[in-house]
Amino acid sequence: MARVYNFSAGPASLPEPVLKKAASELVEYPNAGMSVMEMSHRSKAFEGIISSAEALLRELMNIPAQYKVLFLQGGASLQFSMVPLNLFSKSKKADFVHTGEWTKKAIPESKKYGTVNILASSEDKKFSYIPKLDKSTFTPDADYFYICSNNTIEGTRYAKYPETGNVPLVADMSSHILSEVMDVSTFGVIFAGAQKNIGPAGVTVVIIREDLVGKAMDITPTMLNYATHVKDNSLFNTPPTYSIYMAKLVFEWLKELGGIPAMEEINKKKANLLYDFLDQSPLFKSPVPKEYRSLMNIPFVTGNEELDKKFIAEASKQGLVTLSGHRSVGGMRASIYNAMPFEGVKKLVDFMKKFEMENK
Ligand SMILES: Cc1ncc(COP(=O)(O)O)c(C=O)c1O
Repeated sequence: MARVYNFSAGPASLPEPVLKKAASELVEYPNAGMSVMEMSHRSKAFEGIISSAEALLRELMNIPAQYKVLFLQGGASLQFSMVPLNLFSKSKKADFVHTGEWTKKAIPESKKYGTVNILASSEDKKFSYIPKLDKSTFTPDADYFYICSNNTIEGTRYAKYPETGNVPLVADMSSHILSEVMDVSTFGVIFAGAQKNIGPAGVTVVIIREDLVGKAMDITPTMLNYATHVKDNSLFNTPPTYSIYMAKLVFEWLKELGGIPAMEEINKKKANLLYDFLDQSPLFKSPVPKEYRSLMNIPFVTGNEELDKKFIAEASKQGLVTLSGHRSVGGMRASIYNAMPFEGVKKLVDFMKKFEMENK
């Protein structure tokens, strides 16, 4: 079977050149005589891999020196607990903007350890927008201000980040890290599960401003304390070695392509192709107003569940797979992460045009 265009929200497509490179090194990593999977995480070869991965990520995202980069386990979901355990250090208050299923999961975890103030929510319209914020309502002495910067399920993203002054801004960037140029210095903590734009599942990237490390609550388990992992450069215990190696290959691929500015151009071209089609289509609609639209996750509907099902089934036969919307919202969703080529989106739009003609 030929490779398909996989529109999965995660685990998602990986760049084909990365998969081929990994295949060529699968059995014997150069000069190591063994697979990366078989290597000690304390070996010179693996230390080379993890330090290159960090250096490449720093270069790609232009990460300032006073930020630490960690490769952790537990998925983005574990960060829902690690953030409060490590950041509730003074007032034990946090501001949240509630924008979808992923903040719905993060909020109760923070509530276990402190006071959560939900500043604004877009739940009234099924999370189809990013709420406007009134600065005068921000908690001045909050320990952190939490957002999900790209909402994978609902297909929304912040066009502009909240200005939180001295309160560290924490962003769950799982579904759009590395997709567009971002100013890391705006944030106190950035975290992202790998399985969309970084690599295979198993590793979670955390980028944290140095001064926020080392102030964890007393009850924090050693493994959940950022300081533990900062001290040992993510080698306190056995890290997800193969996922880190794959992430390094993805970072190399991205650098070769021209880095994040070049990737952003391609991502905008891909997203515009699909959104422009949706905006003039008599059949398909985007539920998200223009100013809040994600470049990565694009939900769409026909308004008829039976027709949605037919579309998904027929698309799949054309090698356009995993187009079902999340079970909580239905319809369709095309996740077009960095590794999705322009041709994949073109093929999808061409197929949508054909389907529209045949189902008038
Ligand atoms: C925005 C966002 N946050 C968190 C998660 C959870 O990630 P994980 O499965 O790595 O815990 C996801 C997964 O899809 C996500 O899209």
